[in-house]
Amino acid sequence: MIINGKELSKSIKEGLAERVVALEKEHGRTPNLIVVLVGDDPGSVSYVTGKAKAATEVGIRNTTLRRDVSITQEELLDIIAELNNDADVDGILVQLPLPKHIDEQKVIAAISPEKDVDAFHPLNVASLWLKQPCILPCTPKGIIKLLKFAGVDIAGKEAVVVGRSNIVGQPVAKLLLEENATVTVAHSKTVNLAEVTRRADILVVAIGRERLVTADMIKPGAVVIDVGVNRDSRTGKLCGDVDFEAAQHVASAITPVPGGVGPMTIACLMENTVEAFEKRVTNK
Ligand code: GUN
Repeated sequence: MIINGKELSKSIKEGLAERVVALEKEHGRTPNLIVVLVGDDPGSVSYVTGKAKAATEVGIRNTTLRRDVSITQEELLDIIAELNNDADVDGILVQLPLPKHIDEQKVIAAISPEKDVDAFHPLNVASLWLKQPCILPCTPKGIIKLLKFAGVDIAGKEAVVVGRSNIVGQPVAKLLLEENATVTVAHSKTVNLAEVTRRADILVVAIGRERLVTADMIKPGAVVIDVGVNRDSRTGKLCGDVDFEAAQHVASAITPVPGGVGPMTIACLMENTVEAFEKRVTNK
């Protein structure tokens, strides 16, 4: 089975659009998301365009603030302070990566935690690890939704996450643990990676290396979630971290790239924005 992230994200966005209509009737305004994009990296521009399009579809007001790559850290922090203080702003997202002269962690920590729809703020990260109610990071949240959509019973399964980033690897490992999987986190220094990945009933790959996971590294019948977004060095097309062509014949279910995890990340960002808005208007 090919897990259709596009289809699931569409149904999530349709549900959110209805919720936004109802919320507007009740509270007299719609959610407002501000995306800050520094520089003109084509990958980042493309992500931000996708986020803005999805927000508009859902009925979320949205603005992308584009700033030159030469912006100073202080100027960026001033923009964030202004957005934090603006009662009409519900969600703030600073597209990463930022230019080298800006301290990313400092910028993330400056975002008001209740407007931090990426869930990258230290308080939101801590809440996740302490099992406190919080905004969940979009890609990990989307991966759990994809597994449930595919009918995977996560509890008790061997889950292997390849990659240990703050954005995906570590938080998805935590969410899988919360779903009662037995979780292993492998990474670039793991010795005999194939032996580790072959243990997985659920294999999540988020390492950012084209076709790192080949069919022989997958246990027959495993469920494979490919978070990778790479340019195929042969065709120039988008491809994942898993050799999809061969892997689809070994896995019982697998996400394609594109059309798997990517649309779910965006759908979850929309959900986080609507939830942040709801929380603010109802003072919960
Ligand atoms: N850059 C790559 N992924 C992400 C993401 O999920 N959020 C932000 N803000 N930047 C990113």
